[in-house]
Amino acid sequence: MPQRAVLLGLDLGASKVVAVVAVQEEDGTLNVTGTGQASPQGGITQGQITDMELSTRAITRAVEEAMNTAGQTKVDGIRVAVDGVQFKGENLRDSITISSGDKIITAADRDRVLEQATNGCKLAKEELVLHRLPQMFHIKGQRDIRNPVAMFGETLEAEVRIVVAPSPVIMNINLALKNAGLHGAELMYSPLASAEAVLTREDRENGAVVVDIGEHLTHLGIFLHGSLFHSAVIPIGGMHFTRDLEITKHLGGITASERIKIRFGTVLPAHVPAEEAVELEEEGRLVSRREIAEVLQARASELLNLVLAEMGRTGLTHEIHGGVHLVGGGALLTHLPILAQTLLGRPRVVLGRIQGVKGLPQATGNPYFVNALGAVKALAREQSETRGKPDRRGGILDFFRKMS
Ligand SMILES: Nc1ncnc2c1ncn2[C@@H]1O[C@H](COP(=O)(O)OP(=O)(O)OP(=O)(O)O)[C@@H](O)[C@H]1O
Ligand SMILES: [Mg+2]
Repeated sequence: MPQRAVLLGLDLGASKVVAVVAVQEEDGTLNVTGTGQASPQGGITQGQITDMELSTRAITRAVEEAMNTAGQTKVDGIRVAVDGVQFKGENLRDSITISSGDKIITAADRDRVLEQATNGCKLAKEELVLHRLPQMFHIKGQRDIRNPVAMFGETLEAEVRIVVAPSPVIMNINLALKNAGLHGAELMYSPLASAEAVLTREDRENGAVVVDIGEHLTHLGIFLHGSLFHSAVIPIGGMHFTRDLEITKHLGGITASERIKIRFGTVLPAHVPAEEAVELEEEGRLVSRREIAEVLQARASELLNLVLAEMGRTGLTHEIHGGVHLVGGGALLTHLPILAQTLLGRPRVVLGRIQGVKGLPQATGNPYFVNALGAVKALAREQSETRGKPDRRGGILDFFRKMS
């Protein structure tokens, strides 16, 4: 592992594939030097590759653009944010007896109890465990241990969250990445990437939620005591808002409705003067802006109530003091954080801000880049943590070799 590493982060979305190149400096600073975006043109839907050629082309274009702006031709690691309607999670726990004479817990004991807890999950034949995330450890007589290694204990209990995905979905994502010339790319569940980008360590400790409102889906991750406690996917995204407008107000097609949503939309009708109207470009017809807001508010309320229900499922909503962080293109709908604050009954609902990454402001200040930056940030953090240990990774990009 070189001291100065060039890292590539990707986010595979339905509306766009995003790529970022970041350089991890010797002092640990992460500096974004390149960005790229491309539309998969329908080749990615609800997190799944639905057209290999279109997906491969979008990945290739986004990476090429990011590498060109960064002036790089090779990378030292690749991390890709993935998600989808079929991803799910579960909290598991199990315990082991520490067999050594001195009862000092080793890293092998820690791995064994995590493995055993994970095995408690009954997977379907075509499912795989994408992540195994330790939450907390307990020993007989002492609870809530972050890292039990080198501690005394007669028994060791682990609480772990697993993220499960259908293996064909993962295999097809891996194929698309390989087809685009990206080898050794590691996949990361997108709520983990969102959290890595916008939550501080303190937010996670205090209990925080990330809500990623995409094109067709909303993903959420709930963090408690520093780790992922609950995750969920809600089948509503920004496109549902656009379609609602088109169906109820006939604004001249999906493209026109999308434009009006972005330009004139708000989820707070009371903020819009009753007489204000939007003129439809093609027809010259006037449509009440407040009525547009009412349509958007109805859909936003539905979505936020589903988010609230997921928060309620943890039984620990009262422990969420680190706030709710909205990310994804859908979160940019005007006044959404204000409505969310009321409906979720949380004092702190904010548009997620990317933390701890320097470089190109068009990426570090842009909500579209949250998951790709989160992926690259997680990779950089893990590489710093394992520096000095043998390198298990080494994503290879033979992209330029392939193109030439
Ligand atoms: N300024 C804006 N105001 C309101 N909505 C917006 C704005 N900008 C983008 N959107 C909406 O964001 C949605 C796309 O979000 P995003 O780009 O995060 O999706 P994606 O990551 O490609 O998709 P997914 O995560 O569902 O695979 C679209 O429905 C779009 O209308
Ligand atoms: Mg997305």
